[in-house]
This record gives sequence, C-alpha cells and structure tokens, in this order.
Amino acid sequence: MGQFMKLTGLIALISTLTNYVCAQSKCPNTGDEQFVLRLGDGYRYSKLELALWAPHHMVVDTEGNLLVVEGGSVSVRRLVLEELGDIVCVQSSSDLISEDASNTGIALSADGKTLFTSTEESVWAYDYDAATGQVGQRREIVTNMRVGLQHIYRPLLTSKYNPDTILVARGALGDIDPDTTDPAVARSVIKAFSISEGLQKTHDYARDGEVLAWGIREVVAMAEHPVFGGIWAVESQMDDVHLNGRDIHNDNPAERLTYHGVLNDTENPYKGLNYGYPSCAPAWDTESIGIDGLQVGDLFKPDGVPDIPDGECANRMKGRLHFDAHTAPRDIKFNVNGTAAYIAFHGSWNRDSLIGFRVMRVDFGPDGQPVHPANSKTAQVPVFENVEMAHCPLNCFQPSGLAIDKKGRIFLSNDQLGYVYVIYEA
Ligand SMILES: *[C@@H]1O[C@H](CO)[C@@H](O)[C@H](O)[C@H]1NC(C)=O
Ligand SMILES: *[C@@H]1O[C@H](CO)[C@@H](O)[C@H](O)[C@H]1NC(C)=O
Repeated sequence: MGQFMKLTGLIALISTLTNYVCAQSKCPNTGDEQFVLRLGDGYRYSKLELALWAPHHMVVDTEGNLLVVEGGSVSVRRLVLEELGDIVCVQSSSDLISEDASNTGIALSADGKTLFTSTEESVWAYDYDAATGQVGQRREIVTNMRVGLQHIYRPLLTSKYNPDTILVARGALGDIDPDTTDPAVARSVIKAFSISEGLQKTHDYARDGEVLAWGIREVVAMAEHPVFGGIWAVESQMDDVHLNGRDIHNDNPAERLTYHGVLNDTENPYKGLNYGYPSCAPAWDTESIGIDGLQVGDLFKPDGVPDIPDGECANRMKGRLHFDAHTAPRDIKFNVNGTAAYIAFHGSWNRDSLIGFRVMRVDFGPDGQPVHPANSKTAQVPVFENVEMAHCPLNCFQPSGLAIDKKGRIFLSNDQLGYVYVIYEA
C-alpha cells in the first residue's frame, strides 16, 4: 500500500489573506498538515502556499493558469503558477470575478475563450483572455434554477465533442423529492443547453434545453472522456434509507458513477434515460438489504419513496460504477489520455462512523469504459486519503474540487481547510 506519512504541525488557516504571494523560498517546504495523510502508491504531493476561502471546483485555462471557485468575498480566483524544482508554486494570485460569491460551477469553452460560472440561480458567460487574465461583461445564459435551501450546486460541463453544448445539473429539493417523477420539474436532472442560443436569449432551466438524464438525485460533477467523448457524472444518493422497517442506511445506497453517452452522437442511446430516483436506490451493502440475487448497483425500492410497480426499479438505468454509501463524490476529472478518472470524495455525515475524505482513482480501459464491472466493490484505487477520522469533519481534509493540467499534475482543493494541493505521479 501507499507510503504512510504522519505529518503534524499547526496550520495558520487564515494566515495569508494577501492577494499576491511571492513565496518562492517557502513554496517547496510544503506538507505541514494537521491531518494524517496517506498517499497512494506512485504519487507525491505538495501544497500551494496560499490560504483560500472554501475553494471548490477548478479548471486549468489554455495558458496553464488555475481558476478556482472560492466562497466568501471572492468568487473566482486566478492563480498563475510556476515550477520550482519539481514542485508547482503560485507565482501570483488575483481576483478574476468577484461579482457573486455564491458561485459553485466553473467551465471553459472548448477554445478556452469563454468562461462559465454558475450560482444556485443562473449560469453566466464571460469572454476570457487566458494570457492577460481579463474577463468581459457577464451574460446570463441560463436562469431560474433556484430550488430552495438544499442542493445548491449547479455543476457545469462544456464539451470538446460538441462545443456549442453546456451541461448543467440540478439536484433534488430535499432528500426525497417526489415531484422529480416528472422530468418537466427539471430537478434531479442533467440538462444540455446551446451556448450560442443562450447568448442570444437567456434559457429558462425548466422550459428550455434537453434532458440528458433524469431520476439522478444530485450530480455534483461531470466529465467528458478526453479520447472517447463519453459523458460521466458522479451522484450523491439518499440519506436515512430504511427497507421494510429496517434501518439499512449506514451502508446504503451506493454513490454512483453514471454514463451518459457521447454528445455529438445523434443516436446517443443514453440520452433522456431515467436513473431511478426518487423511487429506486442503488445497493451497496447487499447483505443488509437482503433481496435474493440483488447485486451492488442494482436498484431497489426503499421505504417512504413515491410508489412504483413491483420490479420496475430493475428497468431503470443503473450506474456504471458504485462507491461506499455517503462518501459524497464532489468532483471527477480524467487524466490526459483517459486511462483513469480521479474522484474527490468530500466525506460522510449520515453514517455512524465517518467515511470518505479522500481522492480515489478508477481505471478506464481502451474502450473508454471503466475496467471494473458495475457490481465491483474494488474499483477504487487510493490516491490521497485522510486516515484518522477523529478530527473530521472540522479539522480534516475534505476534497471538493479537482483539475488536471496538460502535464498530468492533479490539483486538489480542500474546502474545509482552504488549501489547494498538487499531486504528481512520482
Ligand atoms: C464527434 O466529435 C469527435 C471530435 O471532434 C469526432 O472525432 C467524431 O467523429 C464525432 N462523432 C460524430 C458521430 O460526429
Ligand atoms: C496515460 O497517462 C499516464 C500518465 O497520466 C501514463 O502513466 C500512462 O502510461 C498513459 N497510458 C497510455 C496508454 O498512454
């Protein structure tokens, strides 16, 4: 297994609220963590010497700069990077967008010249110059997405295969959202919108666009396979699940990786499929569920969900890979050649003992599909894990976003402690 590193030391979380960090001499001395970290085989890491406020999703622009969605008073920060030895450091940092601090999603157009951000309510587009770090006026291209207090994320994905398409996901209202049995309510869905049409006239989220997937509870991130163009999403599933009066929630339902086909395939057989929510949930611990023949990832009907005919859950679309219950996947990014996807798990709360708080890798084969079958419990390879849960969630590592640059360096944000790490293949 991985190298075991016990790293202690106090961190001064809000020590560096400076805009420009010229920490050249300091940068290589990274790695003072207040949590116990285990790094997977074949990886090493460093930490960007910059304290951020709740960093979330990230993208790398065409010039190799890192754009980070940040909570608090700034909403997108642009980090110009430099290499010092074999470590990536921050050369300078600036506020790129500070118009709305509630941004969650971020994406760049296929040509890198338009930047998209999302809030609970809207998707915004900005002209973007990667070389100078200038943005133009914002334009609202999708609106009417606010659903209430829960599930605020509106993850975005642009497509290299269909450059005029932007995917925008919206989660459920509450844990079980009975209205989502109708795709027209446009919750627990992934929708596809034309960017050029949105620039002419703002799309209404429910009325416009096309449903790529529905019955998918809360998608927090999506990624397009760099070689095959397949669209993949990570989904968080229901809390407090019971079956026939028995509490089975500790290890059920599974979190999922779902597949949605290739966007420029006019015959895409995955387009518009239903993934079972709110009436069906995917199994993780089949033993506690106790249904004959039910495998990991198969859908079953828990207590208290909108009714559905017996056996109908088996007709809904399943996930392509499954993960431990409540681990809360927050981001997914492919490596450059599509042989692996990295997934950031934010960590559990709805469970007796904590689980998650880690980045895992799933390997993809030469067919552009995961190497492991849908019922596998061993598809995840550890990359960067918080080991001791005693200090979680407040004083531990909670992965929230990932970005991978052309050189294969993996940027990883930690919203709880306010840092961005860089993971390298050793
Ligand atoms: C989809 O786009 C990719 C990349 O541009 C291209 O190689 C492929 O042929 C396209 N497929 C279809 C069905 O148009
Ligand atoms: C894909 O890239 C990884 C590095 O990210 C490398 O280890 C691997 O050998 C590459 N595989 C192929 C088939 O090119």
